[in-house]
Amino acid sequence: MRKVPEWIASIEDLRKIAHARVPKPFMDYMEAGSFAQLTLRDNRRDLDSIRFRERVMFDVSNRKLETTMLGEKVSIPVAIGPTGMCGAIWSNGEILSCRAAHDFGVPFSLSTNALLSIEDVRSSVDRPFWFQLYLEKDRGFSKELIERADKAGCPVLILTMDLHVEGTRYCDKHNGLGVPPKLTPANIWSIVSHPPWALAMLHSKRWSFGNYAGKVKSGNVAEMAELVKSQLDSSFDVKTLEWVRSLWPGKLVVKGILDVEDAKMAVKAGADAILVSNHGGRQLDGAPSTASVISSIVDAVGDKVEVYVDSGVRSGLDVLKFLGLGARACFIGRAYLYGLGAYQQLGVAKVLEILKDELSIAMALTGVTDVAKMPRDIILRGPPDPTTPSAATSGGPYRDIRVYEES
Ligand SMILES: Cc1cc2nc3c(=O)[nH]c(=O)nc-3n(C[C@H](O)[C@H](O)[C@H](O)COP(=O)(O)O)c2cc1C
Repeated sequence: MRKVPEWIASIEDLRKIAHARVPKPFMDYMEAGSFAQLTLRDNRRDLDSIRFRERVMFDVSNRKLETTMLGEKVSIPVAIGPTGMCGAIWSNGEILSCRAAHDFGVPFSLSTNALLSIEDVRSSVDRPFWFQLYLEKDRGFSKELIERADKAGCPVLILTMDLHVEGTRYCDKHNGLGVPPKLTPANIWSIVSHPPWALAMLHSKRWSFGNYAGKVKSGNVAEMAELVKSQLDSSFDVKTLEWVRSLWPGKLVVKGILDVEDAKMAVKAGADAILVSNHGGRQLDGAPSTASVISSIVDAVGDKVEVYVDSGVRSGLDVLKFLGLGARACFIGRAYLYGLGAYQQLGVAKVLEILKDELSIAMALTGVTDVAKMPRDIILRGPPDPTTPSAATSGGPYRDIRVYEES
């Protein structure tokens, strides 16, 4: 296992290393937002614009970072979110990330569209993980996935509701990472010029969408990608959510909520938790940042269900900002993939350690001693109103910071 050097201080450091170690088409796929990436930018702009109220008149020597998420003890209020094709960032990335998360004491969520299947991961880790479901056109297959997750002992099902259709990422088209994927000379060069990544991939349990294995005769990558795309279902609605609720015996998280009315509908349909998310800026470009809407959703349904948030978390200070806005916990997407691409399991562990250290420091300086008793007034200035024009169109200073541009 490649060790994480001591000089690594931030998730941004890991991001840079990951860019050197993982072929460009896959880093592009991971980093990009949809269309003009306005929402991707706004996620960061709005987190960056928040200011803390610094408090210094308290004893903060004992700080409690542990809490629970849906009854499960977590060492910090963070979970690893579902990311499709995680195993393309590093071979068997789903297993490596799940092990890192479990060793650290936080949940790992496996995507329906991961390269490794529910069973692949379950047979390689110490305990069950959370499973994320995309609703398939073939409802029989959706039901089958729910049953497989239950059989694997997954305590929590995350139902993603914001993928009726897929947002377009321009870079994937440029790189031939579509359906079917194209092996262009540039892709081949990119792969052969990253020998450790390529060699590791030779030892992957799978190169294609494992949860769909057996659904196409040949099992080749192009056919599998075609199947995954053809299964995208734009007809699902709150009734479908009720149907999933009736099938799933465990806890249910509804992911991809940005609107108070949708949140109320999800709660009424039986959600145990809401995950406020704009899919990391990968779906509706022009949707509000999660920082700008989380508080209103917590105010509307926070007394009935747990409210989590994702999209844009890159530091422990971001976690504290979201907690201060009312979220119970944050999910991370790209942040953990940077660690995975850079130093595999140890890299994911490093991401979690960094988040913990930074959260702890930020708590001390805001006078907070328990993540479960978070005063809202630690936020001195909140994010802009969600109707504020997005960063790119307003020509503000955020145009070029920490947001991915194709090179
Ligand atoms: C490469 C990548 C793949 C993703 N795949 C899925 C997926 O399969 N299912 C899902 O519900 N969300 C998926 N997401 C969204 C994440 O779960 C999460 O909402 C998002 O990454 C949060 O934003 P962040 O990356 O800024 O932390 C994906 C995100 C990325 C970056």
